[in-house]
Amino acid sequence: MARSIGILGTGKAVPKKAFKNDDFVKHGLDTSDEWIMDRTGIRQRYIVEDETTSSLCIEAAEHAIKSAGIDRDTIDAVIVATTTPDYPVFPSVACLVQAGLGLREVAAFDLSAACSGFIYATEVATQMLKGGHYRHILVLGADTLSRVCDWRDRSTVVLFGDGAGAVILGDVKKGYGVLSTKLGSRGKDFDKLIIPIGGTKTPITAENVDSPDRYLKMDGKAVYKFAVNIIVGIIEEALTLAHLKKEDITFFVPHQANKRIIEYAREKLGLSVDQVYVNIDRYGNTSAASIPIALSEANDKGLLKSGDVVVTVGFGAGLTYGTSIIKWA
Ligand code: ACO
Repeated sequence: MARSIGILGTGKAVPKKAFKNDDFVKHGLDTSDEWIMDRTGIRQRYIVEDETTSSLCIEAAEHAIKSAGIDRDTIDAVIVATTTPDYPVFPSVACLVQAGLGLREVAAFDLSAACSGFIYATEVATQMLKGGHYRHILVLGADTLSRVCDWRDRSTVVLFGDGAGAVILGDVKKGYGVLSTKLGSRGKDFDKLIIPIGGTKTPITAENVDSPDRYLKMDGKAVYKFAVNIIVGIIEEALTLAHLKKEDITFFVPHQANKRIIEYAREKLGLSVDQVYVNIDRYGNTSAASIPIALSEANDKGLLKSGDVVVTVGFGAGLTYGTSIIKWA
């Protein structure tokens, strides 16, 4: 008998330092609170100082373990979706989390799918659990993109914030939990959102160390168009896989990249404002962390009820995309 796998607990963590739109102006950037609010819906974001991707993960995971009410010794794997690990190549953030939480010597690995990473990691964990050899899996989405943004580039640095979100996945009532998932990629557009220098293709040298190409570069318009082109279609495909229709959606938890993209999807899906979780005003785009942070907040506020059809959707660098249809347990 196939297991039904769902979210048993949620958690989140953000750095202590809040960075308001006006703080960019104070730092000499040619921008304004009005422009950022108007174009993106972002009012502030949190920025790491002494925190790291792994320390945020550990804090978020502690909340999720408590929220799930499980014994940490029953966690059989850790998956961290991130593109901003503590160290450039290895060790993985997941191994630091395994040690930091005092877990048994369980499987631990990172997964790279940028802002869609949490949906990818949830799918990997769900299929591992369905295989029958794991009890609980800790899935995290975490990023500290402030560390890889060009603080001289107003077109990107204002968009991102740092944070981590966590869920514990495990058995739920039959017919509940993750009903369907749709993942995809469009690698031909790899250069629309990229850090050109610093990988193995073009290592950092004395000559390029000050180049703006060491930092995140985005063709914002292209990513925007990509997002609005794919978002509704993939949700419809995943709904069909789950034998559901748009009218069955109770709650929508989208990746928080831009309020206008969220608003576009909301209208196309025929949802009311109350059916959509939006926190981009407080956190900015936290990349892989945005969906689990939103789920954690919605869960803490009691907005997610047993039997609700919750739709998550993400898109980002790669380019990648993904959506999950979850019947909240
Ligand atoms: N402050 C003031 N002016 C600015 C700023 C700023 N921070 N940034 C850009 N501008 C200027 C531009 O220079 C441009 O000026 P110009 O007309 O004189 O050339 C003008 O504002 C308009 O710029 P656009 O790029 O056309 O602005 P647009 O309305 O397209 O918004 C934005 C840009 C917010 C980046 C939007 O395109 C967007 O949200 N794209 C999607 C990004 C996204 O979703 N990324 C998700 C993936 S993230 C991941 O995977 C890690």
